[in-house]
Amino acid sequence: MPTVLVIGSFNVDHVWRVAALPRPGETLGLGEYLAGPGGKGFNQATAVARAGARTHFVCALGEDVGAQLARALATADDIDLRDLRATRPTGTAGIFVDAQGRNIIVVAPGANAELDEDFVQTQGEAIGRAQVVLAQLESPTAAVARGFSLARQSGAVTVLNPAPADAEIPASLLRMADILTPNESEFAAQLLAHTGQTIDPAHLATQDESTLHSLCRDLLRDGTVVVTLGAAGCFVSHASDQRRGDVHLHYRVPAEPVTPVDTTGAGDAFNGALAASLARSPDAAFETHVRYANRYAALSTEQVGAATSMPQDAQVRSRFGD
Ligand code: RIB
Ligand code: NA
Repeated sequence: MPTVLVIGSFNVDHVWRVAALPRPGETLGLGEYLAGPGGKGFNQATAVARAGARTHFVCALGEDVGAQLARALATADDIDLRDLRATRPTGTAGIFVDAQGRNIIVVAPGANAELDEDFVQTQGEAIGRAQVVLAQLESPTAAVARGFSLARQSGAVTVLNPAPADAEIPASLLRMADILTPNESEFAAQLLAHTGQTIDPAHLATQDESTLHSLCRDLLRDGTVVVTLGAAGCFVSHASDQRRGDVHLHYRVPAEPVTPVDTTGAGDAFNGALAASLARSPDAAFETHVRYANRYAALSTEQVGAATSMPQDAQVRSRFGD
């Protein structure tokens, strides 16, 4: 069975839905509150599972109700949870969502900060069974790097979602990514950190393709870069010897038209669906995986919440076709 192993964070998300996002010094009444599961790692693992691949999720949890929530939800979605018992409390996030579905997020990593190389090493057998290993950067980079190095030994495809934007990625970890999936601001931040080049993330979507392609090549010489551009869809750039079944070295994939109510976790939806699709049909053209991930992510924005907003594969297919 197609299998994806996700290494990453679990957070309890505390979400306030407000008409407009608050500014410093402002008090807003009339907010609506809800709590639910989140963390980029868990959101992505949920997307993988609901997109139809066998899912392992390697994370760190505290000894608290947050951990109980993670366990119950993992069971419900048939996610094989492999958690380190941390001394710190389970991670949390405070999220404000406005009427247009835009958000502001603050994360307290807590237990997530304790995920380490030794624990990931103990998951070597599960990593060896996965076709795809997917990670983000709300967990320590040393733990992710160990996972990727085991993945490479067993021939799995590594997908690195370089989120959040302020994460520092060692050059050695970047080189272990077969596929890198930044959004606009993450792309700008990593390009600056690794090549010294400055670009305005707000203008990325309107750049011409050859400029985008050469920036992607500067950032990740040997791998595939997928820059997610929100409502502008995404841009794909392959290294010349890694077309992954595609005819073109670089291309755009348009976004699907939806009316978002909450974009929290849309990037996670994209990454989970991309990984599941890659595991399911390793020989398909890469563009078909990106198209599926776009559709999956679009549908996730029509539901509130992070992990809870991930659609089932059948919902994606009935809405957009195969
Ligand atoms: O990507 C969205 C996620 O970022 C939220 O679920 C929150 O927990 C933070 O990790
Ligand atoms: Na959502």
